[in-house]
Amino acid sequence: MAVNRCMCTGTTFAQVKRCAEETGASYEQVLEMTRCGEGCGLCLPYIKLVLLSGLVDLPVLTPEVYKRLIAQYTQSPTAQPPRQCCESREEHAPGMAAKAISG
Ligand code: FES
Repeated sequence: MAVNRCMCTGTTFAQVKRCAEETGASYEQVLEMTRCGEGCGLCLPYIKLVLLSGLVDLPVLTPEVYKRLIAQYTQSPTAQPPRQCCESREEHAPGMAAKAISG
């Protein structure tokens, strides 16, 4: 199973990648423009990897997989996810407005 979007906003990682490529935006700026991460935060480590790797279909990230991929793309084996997600997406996702970047 590949993860390819922010479940709370509906923004695909392809849209995130295109946003970064077209604007040269930083990680924080991309989050602000796409609104990814404003819900449960589950997508934050994925967004970071999208921007580092250019990949838009990612495996489900366990802490070990995240560390391995971050190390692969940054040469930083001690990297940590930017934020731990909640226990259950279900408790945060309902009612979240789907706001994807257009274009
Ligand atoms: S999956 Fe992106 S904020 Fe919830």
